[in-house]
Amino acid sequence: MGKKFLERVFTKKEIEYCESKKAQKYQHYAARFAAKEATFKAISWKLKDKYEISWKNIEVENDKQGRPNINLIGVDLENIEDIDISISHCKNYAVAYVTVLSK
Ligand SMILES: CC(C)(COP(=O)(O)OP(=O)(O)OC[C@H]1O[C@@H](n2cnc3c(N)ncnc32)[C@H](O)[C@@H]1OP(=O)(O)O)[C@@H](O)C(=O)NCCC(=O)NCCS
Repeated sequence: MGKKFLERVFTKKEIEYCESKKAQKYQHYAARFAAKEATFKAISWKLKDKYEISWKNIEVENDKQGRPNINLIGVDLENIEDIDISISHCKNYAVAYVTVLSK
């Protein structure tokens, strides 16, 4: 993956996290790509225009236990109470499942 593409799609924190995984880094990048798409789809009904948000407005951040969380950066969506995410990856496959809890 080219640097330009990475910096267009992934935040600084995401790049640091994935690069720290060395040989498996592409699985982690792929999972974050899937997570961004899944989050977009789950919140899109709240958007007036689908181009209102871009890749880096959605960030995956892992806590100390490794548990992933979604940060919405620079996006202020009303009535979203919680976003739950589950990620899994193996060899050439990555999957992310996102659930949005709304009032
Ligand atoms: C967390 C764990 C289940 C991940 O499973 P895995 O087979 O290693 O890897 P998977 O591809 O399925 O999942 C990897 C993703 O799990 C997520 N993950 C890691 N730790 C997590 C945690 N504590 N809670 C929720 N999700 C977690 C991460 O998003 C990770 O991907 P990322 O590093 O790119 O963000 C495993 O590493 C682990 O700690 N197992 C010990 C606990 C266990 O298995 N108990 C059995 C009870 S059923």
